[in-house]
Amino acid sequence: MSAIETPIRSSTTESVFTVEATPLKFGSGASLEAGWELQRLGVKHAMVVCDPQVRAAGLADAILAQFDSVGIGYEIYDAIQIEPTDASLAAAGAAAREGNFDGFVSIGGGSTIDTAKVANLLSTHGGDVIDYVNPPVGGGRKPDSPLRPHLAIPTTAGTGSEATTVAVLDLPELKVKSGISHRYLRPAQAIVDPELSRTMPAAVTSSAGLDVVCHAAESYISRQFDTRPRPASPADRPPYQGANPVADLWSARALEYGGKYLRRAVADGNDVEARGFMMLAASLAGIGFGSAGVHIPHACAYPIAGLKHTFQPPGYETDHPFVPHGWSVIVTSPAAFRFTFDAAPERHRKVAEFLTGRHIASNELDADTLPRILLELMRDVDAPSGVRALGYDEDDIPELVEGALKQQRLLVISPKQPGPDDLAQIYRDSMENW
Ligand SMILES: [Fe+2]
Repeated sequence: MSAIETPIRSSTTESVFTVEATPLKFGSGASLEAGWELQRLGVKHAMVVCDPQVRAAGLADAILAQFDSVGIGYEIYDAIQIEPTDASLAAAGAAAREGNFDGFVSIGGGSTIDTAKVANLLSTHGGDVIDYVNPPVGGGRKPDSPLRPHLAIPTTAGTGSEATTVAVLDLPELKVKSGISHRYLRPAQAIVDPELSRTMPAAVTSSAGLDVVCHAAESYISRQFDTRPRPASPADRPPYQGANPVADLWSARALEYGGKYLRRAVADGNDVEARGFMMLAASLAGIGFGSAGVHIPHACAYPIAGLKHTFQPPGYETDHPFVPHGWSVIVTSPAAFRFTFDAAPERHRKVAEFLTGRHIASNELDADTLPRILLELMRDVDAPSGVRALGYDEDDIPELVEGALKQQRLLVISPKQPGPDDLAQIYRDSMENW
């Protein structure tokens, strides 16, 4: 037996799970250690991928000044598309190749961090974006060695991208959203500084925070990892492995923070305590779902964000119509968890308890318990009422279902497998949640 061969095991179901976490530095003022961190990572010439609005607000100035003071060279790249496309990522990859950088820094929300991940991937390993996109949409190519160091500095509290192995992208010509996922995409270090999210508009806080809640709820209510088929080789073990005892810890804490602090963070931009806990929740949930995975609400969200580009999100400082990710996810979550309830009632109860901070007795628990709690939260943070408010009607359901079914990588992690009719029902029930 060669050194890398794994012993033959008799069972056909999985018995192993992995949890990996980005090293995380958290706290007010933590971003003032960015120069030290980049130096520690051995970077001398960095590509700084920075959201243009974050840059215009001056949030990157203190970070860049540190690079100057420790003698790290850098070039700024700010042609970020909110909800990146294959084209915007390819352009970032070309700029990264051109600049011959030995490290990456991202300062912004999930779109910025994801752009840096893919720029790093393309400049390290070559190829086109589509080669790496998850099958069946793309070629699913796996990088065969680690990427260059990436220091991620999130300025929103949502995607948890700083902690995950995934970059999400829109493929407008294929009318689909998909992702690139591989463990090497995970940043080498994250710095989470609540001071950086102070200027975030309430609508962005709402959408991003609801995304956090969904990451954690979907992970906690995913299929148990040891019910999946055993992979033929460790290389084939998917990043999204299903619920496991360690991912549960991260998801549970993220749900507690989401239930306790999201309303406050949306109501008052200067509530640094609430914003700080939401930023922490985003990273915690990122680590949880980076191991367990997300399923039906996220699978349903991809076509909601990808099919039509007519929704002009209120409260966002952009004239480019798009559906903010968190809102695209949350609108189908009540119906999705109504559908999955009977496959794992206890797990739904626990999520409801984490979110509310109170015990839920067996006689109050039914398929509507968790959906009701999510609906209250959605209304309190001014989320859209449903799929219709995002620009769709019943005639769009077949195309939405088709788009959701393409997200098999996510759907297989659901505790109950939805067929086309189930997904159609979930969309129908989510047209207007109130
Ligand atoms: Fe998400």
